[in-house]
Amino acid sequence: MINRTTKISDSFARSESAVVYPGNCLDLLHEVPSEALHLIVTSPPYNIGKEYEKKMHIDSYLRQQEQVIRECVRALAPTGSICWQVGNYVDRGSIIPLDTILYPIFAGLGLTMRNRIVWHFEHGLHCSRRFSGRYETIMWFTKTDDYVFNLDPVRVPQKYPGKKYFRGPKAGQYSCNPLGKNPGDLWIIPNVKSNHVEKTAHPCQFPVELIERLVLSMTRKGDWVFDPFLGTGTSIIAAIRHKRRGAGAETQPKYVSLARERIEQELDGTLRTRPMTRPVYDPVEAGNSLTVPPWTQTESKQMVLLNKPTREQRYKTK
Ligand SMILES: C[S@@+](CC[C@H](N)C(=O)[O-])C[C@H]1O[C@@H](n2cnc3c(N)ncnc32)[C@H](O)[C@@H]1O
Repeated sequence: MINRTTKISDSFARSESAVVYPGNCLDLLHEVPSEALHLIVTSPPYNIGKEYEKKMHIDSYLRQQEQVIRECVRALAPTGSICWQVGNYVDRGSIIPLDTILYPIFAGLGLTMRNRIVWHFEHGLHCSRRFSGRYETIMWFTKTDDYVFNLDPVRVPQKYPGKKYFRGPKAGQYSCNPLGKNPGDLWIIPNVKSNHVEKTAHPCQFPVELIERLVLSMTRKGDWVFDPFLGTGTSIIAAIRHKRRGAGAETQPKYVSLARERIEQELDGTLRTRPMTRPVYDPVEAGNSLTVPPWTQTESKQMVLLNKPTREQRYKTK
């Protein structure tokens, strides 16, 4: 169904496999029949004055979001899911976590929250008047209790795969699932900054692996994945990689081109991405020479904290 010859359409039809709509998401949503979409996943503008958004009063922002969310709920299949990925709105140094003020909109439209996934990453702005922000959240909602959820394709390695029951009727048998464990609701996945292999000119892309996990667990082959705020096309890339269909809208022509280019590379098999199974880079484990601080002789307590610990020091409890 989806292969090198797949064409990228710019309007929605059930017979298509990849749709990049150059314009406002509400216009694309109006083309989508009711209950046609299986996963709606997005990171909307945060109203923080990025180059692709005009900062507005928070009430106007919420009204705009509600219009889009309402249309998404209409277009969502009864077994479908909505994943809304957000960070903080910042107003003169005061932060408002967007999930806290968006939640009532979803709940008011009758959706059920299944998880509030914390996505933790290491890179971003260094704050001087508060702790630097190193997580954002993914609010996962479903329309009914009969929703698609498959854990097996997204299981992660067990911490103790050799652990066995030591008593009871199962004594001696392995106690864990050999396919791996549930990844939980705290996801440690590098964000797309500086030298990440997926980095483009867009200031806030999803890493493909983040969306792959949602696509694999919440949809089936052939299903529609939809992103109203498409950016560089990541949601469509994750969808077609796993034999789903993908559609989305983007208002900025330069990102529309980038999205098309990346989707074409994905269809050709040439798009470079960070694999889902790669562990997070640990500079100490990797023996990176920059982890040996040149100031080891100084008296500064803060500097000494940065010294490379020995294995014994690392695991000592006192
Ligand atoms: C946070 S970015 C999404 C980035 C995306 N997740 C990715 O992986 O590249 C939000 C995007 O929404 C676009 N946008 C803003 N308002 C829009 C609207 N009404 N309709 C469609 N796209 C819009 C912006 O231009 C921006 O590229």
